[in-house]
Amino acid sequence: ETQIIKLDPNRPDEQYTQHIAYAAQLLRAGELVVFPTETVYGLGANALDAQAAEQIFIAKGRPLSDPLIVHIADEHELENIVSVVPATARKLAAAFWPGPLTMILPAGPRVPALITSGLPNVAVRMPGHPVAQALIRTAGIPIAAPSANRFMHVSPTTAQHVYVDLKGRVPLILDGGPCTVGVESTILDLCAEVPTILRPGGISLEALRSILPQVQPPQPRQTQDEEDFTHAQAAPGQMHIHYSPSVPAYLFEGSVAAMRQAMLAELQTRKARGELVGVLIADEDLNAFQDSGAIIYSLGRTPEQIATHLFAGLRTLEEASANVILCRTFTEQGLGLAIRDRLLKAAGSKVTKV
Ligand code: TXA
Ligand code: MG
Repeated sequence: ETQIIKLDPNRPDEQYTQHIAYAAQLLRAGELVVFPTETVYGLGANALDAQAAEQIFIAKGRPLSDPLIVHIADEHELENIVSVVPATARKLAAAFWPGPLTMILPAGPRVPALITSGLPNVAVRMPGHPVAQALIRTAGIPIAAPSANRFMHVSPTTAQHVYVDLKGRVPLILDGGPCTVGVESTILDLCAEVPTILRPGGISLEALRSILPQVQPPQPRQTQDEEDFTHAQAAPGQMHIHYSPSVPAYLFEGSVAAMRQAMLAELQTRKARGELVGVLIADEDLNAFQDSGAIIYSLGRTPEQIATHLFAGLRTLEEASANVILCRTFTEQGLGLAIRDRLLKAAGSKVTKV
């Protein structure tokens, strides 16, 4: 009973407008709608309606201690969501909105506690995807939306990914094609003493620092047990979740040559045991793995391409029934910080330094 509607934002004809209006009406009626953003697909509900937002947690199987990002289409809407708009937020919005930047700001009184998991602060972002913008604007309400995957799974970058995870659990998926950025938004805490990145994402540290030089990179993780959701209430929003493929992933770190060598050795060992091995690599590694007998998924060449294809790569190897996924690390420059963060989350503690 999950309906998928294809929308081409390059051809916003009358039918397109009608589909957006239908989705907006569902949202206003308290229903869930999955929509594309430039980062990943979002599972949306009316952010000012606690009962509607609660459906998000149920559909995803997500604990209430993990707060939601509120999506807006117009900077004026900020005033309805946050209690103060600091000058730094205005500057960042001018530079990066619409786009893959989420700002943590003091929550206004209209935001239900369910959205923030009871925190005094709220996460706000203005997505750049034309379908997301049209939907939020037409609905006329701010939209709370986490990534549209089942809890703990890899974020979806196509409508098909969403369907695999949420079929029968949501009434409508708007299919706007594959997401271009491919990793989630950068979350920047503007309530901290010094603006600090909580989650690296589609806007790089370097880009943020070009506007706010004092921005701090993500701080080393606290020692809290990553799987310990019962105690996560103590620090909602600080949960360190592995969103992992359902297949175990192993991450290799080191020089390119050493990583290739270690991955090929691991591959031979596992092949000898009869395992089907998937490798997540870049174009520059293709020659080395060509005759290895692995299922090969190349993410591309540049950090931008690697980010775009990362989640699709993990899901593709999962669906190819690989018993194990071997991946390598890339540069930490630019989007590389987000790529590395997602690979580490996918691998959990299974990191081999070579
Ligand atoms: O690109 C994205 O950000 C996508 C698209 C759909 O917009 N959304 C997304 O949402 O990735 P989600 O729920 O999967 O991840 C949002 C994370 C939460 O897990 C939480 O850690 C953090 O944002 N967060 C939300 N509200 C917060 C708050 N008030 N304080 C601190 N962290 C917060
Ligand atoms: Mg998520």
